[in-house]
Amino acid sequence: MGWHRLADLGLAVALAILLIGTGWAVAGAGHGSDAVEAASGLAAADAASLAALRTLYRRPEVIPVPPDNPITPAKADLGARLFQDPGLSGSGTLSCASCHDAARGFSDGRPRAIGDGGQVLARRSPTLWNLAWAPFLFWDGRAASLEAQAAMPIEEHAEMNQPLGALAERLSADPSYRAAFARAFPEEPAVSPANIVRALAAFERTLVSPRTRFDAWVEGDDTALTPAEKRGLLLFHGRAGCANCHQGWALTDHGFYDIGLPDASDRGRGAVLGLPQVDHAFKTPTLREIGRRGPFMHDGSLATLEAVIDHYDRGVVERPTLPPELPRRLGLSATERADLLAFLGTLTVPGEEPPSPEPLPVATPETTAMPPATAGRISQRGRRFDPGRVTVPVGTLLEVVNDEEATAHNVRIDDPRLHFNSGIQDPGETVAIAFPEPGRYVAFCGIHPRMRLEVEVRPAGP
Ligand code: HEC
Ligand code: HEC
Repeated sequence: MGWHRLADLGLAVALAILLIGTGWAVAGAGHGSDAVEAASGLAAADAASLAALRTLYRRPEVIPVPPDNPITPAKADLGARLFQDPGLSGSGTLSCASCHDAARGFSDGRPRAIGDGGQVLARRSPTLWNLAWAPFLFWDGRAASLEAQAAMPIEEHAEMNQPLGALAERLSADPSYRAAFARAFPEEPAVSPANIVRALAAFERTLVSPRTRFDAWVEGDDTALTPAEKRGLLLFHGRAGCANCHQGWALTDHGFYDIGLPDASDRGRGAVLGLPQVDHAFKTPTLREIGRRGPFMHDGSLATLEAVIDHYDRGVVERPTLPPELPRRLGLSATERADLLAFLGTLTVPGEEPPSPEPLPVATPETTAMPPATAGRISQRGRRFDPGRVTVPVGTLLEVVNDEEATAHNVRIDDPRLHFNSGIQDPGETVAIAFPEPGRYVAFCGIHPRMRLEVEVRPAGP
């Protein structure tokens, strides 16, 4: 999948820049800076790193869609209608949009969501921007696709409290819904539970965050960002370490991290994976349209972006589950905090009106041909499997070595033929996988799920 590879490349470049940013900026201070750069507060080395950063933020050209649920205008329209319809809830009062409100960045402005019966839910309503690229859904990643996710809030007693079968019956009583389902699913024109979740998922995949001033800068307009915003971007990538996790055009790596929030009552990803080492880890959210959707975090505990910066600067609670990607005790100056905020401000379309999603063509990910070479050992350095595709003869062991400095991984295969779970794989540890029968398998990391390894297992013999 092309977009995975590009994003991984992005990490390598980001790390390179991080190093350059700390070393060169000091060394270069003696010569390069002229009057203009001094006036803008950007040294020559900074200008060079800024230019290199542009390549990390190129927007995607297509929306990736699964082969079994392509997006058509009729299907996305039906999904949008369902999304707004309070008839999806048992009481008839709550729609998806009640908790995922476009005017509030598809969140709801509350620290925790409030369900159909009025009870306060355990977590905050997350944004729905840019989920077409998310390998796992929910703050703890417990749903593996938007289709699987969509059924859950509808049926969940505390949320919308309506069995999907009953909902399908309710909707099929309405002739305009019957006609809309027939247009959206010409091959199987039924108002069925499967088609309800397909339509919702198709609509959600079209929620691509709109272009902002930041994109104008990425595409080469140097005047689109102010000097403070550029300094903020450098800090985001450099000393503040934000880009260790908030990577790429959507500013997320879709990974799971404990960022040291004070309330540790929710195990998050740790409970889903059954790994206490990733307790309190939650999904990195996109930072696009961040200005519309406070309060922030899975528990809504930080009311403003200032409070978010304060948290990363000096509020992180020390505990064994903090990941190596999270910087500690940043000690930011008042100017640095203001610069970071200024940069975050460039990721939201200004104005009160909810912005329209960016229209993009769709594409099903192409399955690439396997390289003929056999690799006995797979590296995981820089949070990517290398090589990312291998072929092995059945009966041989595939070795996956964690050759990272500090980052732990969790290699998993979730396949009817093989359920594999390495448990926590600390740096230095190698796991060996035996495949039961020929065929194609996909391994991923439960903590950094953008890591994917495709394995083609060949029949034994010559
Ligand atoms: C009562 C409020 C509420 C309603 C109604 C609701 N949601 Fe949610 N939604 C939430 C909360 C809270 C979460 C986070 C739950 C968690 O992570 O455990 C969530 C999570 C999600 C996610 C995962 C986002 C991510 O970043 O992984 C998607 C997608 C989603 N909802 C779509 C929908 C759809 C579609 C509907 C209507 C069928 C819907 N929601 C109805 C509150 C709501
Ligand atoms: C170790 C990975 C990591 C680093 C480093 C990191 N973040 Fe985050 N960020 C996350 C995760 C994970 C969450 C969600 C945490 C939660 O809800 O428990 C998050 C949440 C946020 C949110 C709230 C988003 C929302 O929708 O609620 C903002 C804003 C944010 N981060 C900005 C930053 C900034 C600015 C920096 C640098 C100072 C930074 N992050 C550094 C992983 C990281």
